[in-house]
Amino acid sequence: MYKIAVFVSGGGSNLQAIIDACDSGKLNATVCLVVSNKNTAFALERAEKSRIPNFCLTAESEILATLEKFNPNIIFLAGYLKKIPPSILEKYDVYNIHPALLPKYGGKGMYGINVHKAVLAAGESETGVTIHKIDSDYDKGTIIAQKKVAVLPNDTAETLAARVLAHENIFIVEVISQILSEC
Ligand code: GAR
Repeated sequence: MYKIAVFVSGGGSNLQAIIDACDSGKLNATVCLVVSNKNTAFALERAEKSRIPNFCLTAESEILATLEKFNPNIIFLAGYLKKIPPSILEKYDVYNIHPALLPKYGGKGMYGINVHKAVLAAGESETGVTIHKIDSDYDKGTIIAQKKVAVLPNDTAETLAARVLAHENIFIVEVISQILSEC
Protein backbone atom coordinates (compact mmCIF):
# COMPACT_ATOMS: atom_id res chain seq x y z
CA MET A 1 0.00 0.00 0.00
CA TYR A 2 1.55 3.29 -1.12
CA LYS A 3 1.33 6.49 0.90
CA ILE A 4 0.53 9.77 -0.81
CA ALA A 5 0.93 13.22 0.73
CA VAL A 6 -1.32 15.75 -1.00
CA PHE A 7 -0.55 19.48 -0.86
CA VAL A 8 -3.47 21.86 -1.42
CA SER A 9 -4.42 25.54 -1.33
CA GLY A 10 -8.06 25.60 -2.40
CA GLY A 11 -11.24 23.65 -2.93
CA GLY A 12 -9.63 20.24 -3.10
CA SER A 13 -11.71 18.53 -5.80
CA ASN A 14 -8.57 16.74 -6.97
CA LEU A 15 -7.77 15.74 -3.39
CA GLN A 16 -11.30 14.34 -3.13
CA ALA A 17 -10.83 12.36 -6.34
CA ILE A 18 -7.64 10.83 -4.90
CA ILE A 19 -9.32 10.04 -1.54
CA ASP A 20 -12.30 8.43 -3.32
CA ALA A 21 -10.01 6.33 -5.53
CA CYS A 22 -8.08 5.12 -2.46
CA ASP A 23 -11.33 4.31 -0.65
CA SER A 24 -12.78 2.38 -3.60
CA GLY A 25 -9.55 0.44 -4.19
CA LYS A 26 -8.94 2.01 -7.60
CA LEU A 27 -5.63 3.12 -6.17
CA ASN A 28 -3.55 0.80 -4.04
CA ALA A 29 -2.74 3.72 -1.77
CA THR A 30 -3.82 5.90 1.12
CA VAL A 31 -3.63 9.64 1.51
CA CYS A 32 -1.41 9.70 4.60
CA LEU A 33 -1.18 13.46 4.93
CA VAL A 34 -2.72 16.68 3.61
CA VAL A 35 -0.75 19.93 3.84
CA SER A 36 -2.19 23.35 3.04
CA ASN A 37 -0.59 26.77 3.10
CA LYS A 38 -4.01 28.33 3.82
CA ASN A 39 -6.07 27.48 6.87
CA THR A 40 -9.26 28.48 5.03
CA ALA A 41 -8.78 25.94 2.22
CA PHE A 42 -11.92 23.81 1.85
CA ALA A 43 -9.58 20.94 1.01
CA LEU A 44 -8.69 20.77 4.74
CA GLU A 45 -12.35 20.11 5.56
CA ARG A 46 -12.39 17.28 3.03
CA ALA A 47 -9.32 15.76 4.71
CA GLU A 48 -10.86 16.18 8.16
CA LYS A 49 -14.08 14.50 7.02
CA SER A 50 -12.07 11.49 5.82
CA ARG A 51 -10.02 11.50 9.06
CA ILE A 52 -6.80 12.18 7.20
CA PRO A 53 -4.09 13.99 9.19
CA ASN A 54 -4.11 17.55 7.89
CA PHE A 55 -2.05 20.60 8.68
CA CYS A 56 -1.77 24.21 7.66
CA LEU A 57 1.98 24.73 7.42
CA THR A 58 4.08 27.45 5.88
CA ALA A 59 7.52 27.07 7.45
CA GLU A 60 9.85 24.86 5.43
CA SER A 61 11.25 23.21 8.59
CA GLU A 62 7.75 22.28 9.77
CA ILE A 63 6.78 20.86 6.39
CA LEU A 64 9.99 18.79 6.30
CA ALA A 65 9.48 17.50 9.85
CA THR A 66 5.86 16.55 9.08
CA LEU A 67 6.86 14.74 5.89
CA GLU A 68 9.51 12.85 7.81
CA LYS A 69 6.90 11.75 10.33
CA PHE A 70 4.37 10.52 7.74
CA ASN A 71 6.99 9.25 5.27
CA PRO A 72 4.99 9.33 1.98
CA ASN A 73 6.11 7.49 -1.17
CA ILE A 74 5.15 10.49 -3.29
CA ILE A 75 3.92 14.05 -2.83
CA PHE A 76 1.17 15.28 -5.12
CA LEU A 77 0.47 18.99 -5.53
CA ALA A 78 -3.26 19.26 -6.19
CA GLY A 79 -3.91 22.97 -6.52
CA TYR A 80 -1.01 23.95 -4.24
CA LEU A 81 0.05 27.45 -5.12
CA LYS A 82 3.35 27.77 -3.32
CA LYS A 83 6.83 26.86 -4.48
CA ILE A 84 8.33 23.66 -3.15
CA PRO A 85 11.78 24.29 -1.69
CA PRO A 86 14.82 22.32 -2.90
CA SER A 87 15.17 20.66 0.52
CA ILE A 88 11.88 18.81 -0.13
CA LEU A 89 12.61 18.08 -3.80
CA GLU A 90 15.91 16.48 -2.79
CA LYS A 91 14.15 13.96 -0.57
CA TYR A 92 10.80 13.29 -2.27
CA ASP A 93 9.30 12.71 -5.71
CA VAL A 94 6.90 15.60 -6.17
CA TYR A 95 4.21 15.72 -8.89
CA ASN A 96 1.91 18.55 -9.89
CA ILE A 97 -1.32 18.87 -11.84
CA HIS A 98 -1.67 21.96 -14.01
CA PRO A 99 -4.83 23.07 -15.87
CA ALA A 100 -3.24 23.64 -19.31
CA LEU A 101 -0.97 21.98 -21.84
CA LEU A 102 2.46 22.87 -20.48
CA PRO A 103 4.87 24.37 -21.45
CA LYS A 104 2.13 26.74 -22.63
CA TYR A 105 0.35 28.76 -19.93
CA GLY A 106 2.64 27.84 -17.07
CA GLY A 107 4.94 29.76 -14.79
CA LYS A 108 4.49 32.73 -12.51
CA GLY A 109 0.91 33.94 -12.09
CA MET A 110 -0.47 31.05 -14.13
CA TYR A 111 -2.79 29.32 -11.73
CA GLY A 112 -6.50 28.71 -11.47
CA ILE A 113 -8.73 31.04 -13.49
CA ASN A 114 -5.76 33.09 -14.81
CA VAL A 115 -4.69 30.10 -16.91
CA HIS A 116 -8.09 29.79 -18.58
CA LYS A 117 -8.35 33.55 -19.19
CA ALA A 118 -4.98 33.44 -20.95
CA VAL A 119 -6.02 30.44 -23.06
CA LEU A 120 -9.21 32.24 -24.19
CA ALA A 121 -7.38 35.54 -24.81
CA ALA A 122 -4.96 33.69 -27.12
CA GLY A 123 -7.86 32.20 -29.10
CA GLU A 124 -6.76 28.61 -28.53
CA SER A 125 -9.08 25.87 -29.82
CA GLU A 126 -7.79 23.36 -27.31
CA THR A 127 -6.31 23.33 -23.84
CA GLY A 128 -5.94 20.52 -21.36
CA VAL A 129 -4.33 19.05 -18.29
CA THR A 130 -0.67 18.35 -17.58
CA ILE A 131 0.78 16.16 -14.86
CA HIS A 132 4.48 16.65 -14.40
CA LYS A 133 7.27 15.92 -12.00
CA ILE A 134 8.45 19.09 -10.33
CA ASP A 135 11.93 20.43 -10.35
CA SER A 136 12.96 23.62 -8.60
CA ASP A 137 11.19 25.83 -11.16
CA TYR A 138 7.42 26.11 -10.84
CA ASP A 139 5.53 24.44 -13.71
CA LYS A 140 8.74 23.06 -15.16
CA GLY A 141 10.08 19.53 -15.01
CA THR A 142 9.35 16.26 -16.73
CA ILE A 143 5.90 15.93 -18.27
CA ILE A 144 4.41 12.59 -17.27
CA ALA A 145 1.05 12.80 -19.06
CA GLN A 146 -1.22 15.26 -20.83
CA LYS A 147 -4.87 15.23 -21.75
CA LYS A 148 -6.40 17.56 -24.34
CA VAL A 149 -9.67 19.36 -23.65
CA ALA A 150 -11.55 21.31 -26.35
CA VAL A 151 -12.19 25.02 -26.00
CA LEU A 152 -15.79 25.66 -27.11
CA PRO A 153 -16.88 28.80 -29.01
CA ASN A 154 -19.01 30.19 -26.17
CA ASP A 155 -16.61 29.35 -23.34
CA THR A 156 -15.98 31.83 -20.57
CA ALA A 157 -12.98 31.35 -18.28
CA GLU A 158 -15.41 29.87 -15.74
CA THR A 159 -17.04 27.32 -18.08
CA LEU A 160 -13.63 26.32 -19.41
CA ALA A 161 -12.21 25.99 -15.87
CA ALA A 162 -15.11 23.75 -14.87
CA ARG A 163 -14.70 21.49 -17.93
CA VAL A 164 -10.94 21.20 -17.46
CA LEU A 165 -11.36 20.49 -13.71
CA ALA A 166 -13.84 17.68 -14.42
CA HIS A 167 -11.19 16.09 -16.67
CA GLU A 168 -8.50 16.67 -14.03
CA ASN A 169 -10.52 14.78 -11.41
CA ILE A 170 -10.52 11.65 -13.60
CA PHE A 171 -7.07 12.03 -15.14
CA ILE A 172 -5.29 12.54 -11.80
CA VAL A 173 -6.36 9.08 -10.63
CA GLU A 174 -5.32 7.39 -13.89
CA VAL A 175 -1.90 9.01 -13.82
CA ILE A 176 -1.26 8.38 -10.10
CA SER A 177 -2.06 4.74 -10.76
CA GLN A 178 0.56 4.75 -13.52
CA ILE A 179 3.11 6.57 -11.32
CA LEU A 180 2.63 4.12 -8.44
CA SER A 181 2.96 1.12 -10.73
CA GLU A 182 6.44 2.38 -11.60
CA CYS A 183 7.35 3.32 -8.00
C1 GAR B 1 -6.81 22.79 -10.42
O1 GAR B 1 -7.40 23.26 -11.62
C2 GAR B 1 -5.31 22.65 -10.60
O2 GAR B 1 -4.93 22.18 -11.85
C3 GAR B 1 -4.89 24.07 -10.39
O3 GAR B 1 -5.64 24.51 -9.29
C4 GAR B 1 -6.92 23.85 -9.33
C5 GAR B 1 -7.19 23.24 -7.98
O4 GAR B 1 -8.48 22.69 -7.93
N1 GAR B 1 -3.47 24.16 -10.17
C6 GAR B 1 -2.72 25.15 -10.68
O5 GAR B 1 -3.19 26.08 -11.31
C7 GAR B 1 -1.23 25.03 -10.37
N2 GAR B 1 -0.46 25.92 -11.20
P1 GAR B 1 -8.94 21.76 -6.72
O6 GAR B 1 -8.51 22.48 -5.43
O7 GAR B 1 -10.43 21.66 -6.86
O8 GAR B 1 -8.22 20.44 -6.87
